[in-house]
Amino acid sequence: MQLPTNVSALRGAIEVPGDKSVSHRAVMLGALASGRTVIEHFLPGADCLSTIDCFRKLGVDIRQDGTTVVVEGVGPGGLREPAAVLDVGNSGTTARLLLGILAGQPFHACLVGDESIARRPMGRVTKPLCEMGAHIDGREGGNYTPLSVRGGALRPIHYASPVASAQVKSAVLLAGLFTDGVTSVTEPHRSRDHTERMIRLFGGGVDVAGFTVSIAGPQRLEGTRVYVPGDISSAAFFLVAGAIVPNSEITLKNVGFNPTRTGILDVLAQMGADLAIDNVRNEETEPVADITVRTSTLRAVDIGGDLIPRLIDEIPIIALLATQAEGTTVIRDAAELKVKETNRIDTVVAELKKLGADIEATDDGMIIRGKTPLVADDAVVDSHGDHRIGMMLAIAACITKGRVRLNRKEAVAVSYPTFFADLRSLL
Ligand code: S3P
Repeated sequence: MQLPTNVSALRGAIEVPGDKSVSHRAVMLGALASGRTVIEHFLPGADCLSTIDCFRKLGVDIRQDGTTVVVEGVGPGGLREPAAVLDVGNSGTTARLLLGILAGQPFHACLVGDESIARRPMGRVTKPLCEMGAHIDGREGGNYTPLSVRGGALRPIHYASPVASAQVKSAVLLAGLFTDGVTSVTEPHRSRDHTERMIRLFGGGVDVAGFTVSIAGPQRLEGTRVYVPGDISSAAFFLVAGAIVPNSEITLKNVGFNPTRTGILDVLAQMGADLAIDNVRNEETEPVADITVRTSTLRAVDIGGDLIPRLIDEIPIIALLATQAEGTTVIRDAAELKVKETNRIDTVVAELKKLGADIEATDDGMIIRGKTPLVADDAVVDSHGDHRIGMMLAIAACITKGRVRLNRKEAVAVSYPTFFADLRSLL
């Protein structure tokens, strides 16, 4: 598609769709709980629809009508051995969290996904789950899909995760729901805590001490109402757009404001962005805020260490932001980018270079020199099938002089099906 370029202003207010991480977990815990769960402001993106599809195949009655989902929880022992393969599509969160749940079920299941999932390491969850007693096999010793799982009686473990990954932590904690005893996970840095918050919302108990989270199994969960806040990872595209497109003012309403996710706001503030955060409040267990951003003069920053898990999904759009900041921005400690939907170090660098950015890849991040005007002479950029690369490029085009065409634009539907309509509404 031809992208809007050389945009003179972006102005208005939007409410971004529901949070992807929270939407997945609401369906999963709703399925495991006893009784009905009603989810509001659910994200009807392709990834979360994959989660619904997998749980239907496990025998759970789930009705989805736009952003409202009703899950008839099956309670302990209620999931059924699936007759068809469980297809997680493009969704790493579905794959890894589902593996944690399947590990505790006394039946067999096959898990597959798309070409991107087939390249993403699953050993980081299959290893601790096998240690707990699950039988998981698959390509290359169980590290890659297709995977075959035979779960059953699990023993509790303490797992010291080498990576700060909410998917790893959540898989082990979800398996811990089905053990008799205390399962715990220690991470090198704190990752997003939506699983912990949501287990509590469903009446379960989780203990947190420093970077260690513990769960005492077995636990009984009760169906509940879940309101899903707007996804700060989706809002991030418009937060950056508001800061870098001339004459802009954008308000993002009802955005999730969970401190394990707000690293993008810290970076914008450190860069000197004109940012206002209003109406901070709690919706169920997740904090929410309205955020307004205006066109700003920006300076370069260093990004690394414990900030990385708090903004890991925002690094593609932060790389674009850094092209418009005065000085050299260094992003380090972000080797995890290599195992996302694409190798996001490579895809960000290759695509932004096409528009004239001064950006180079490093082993664990990137170096970006600014401020660089973006220009294109009939450029063709590519999402590489990665939703966040596609959306970053659409925002990059807004500040590009010349014509820019985006290939594989449909990838954005993974997390933000209405992205292009929302962008148009601000023009
Ligand atoms: C997610 C955790 C993160 C993130 C992903 C969603 C989750 O992955 O990148 O988009 O919902 O738990 P890791 O846990 O692998 O860092």
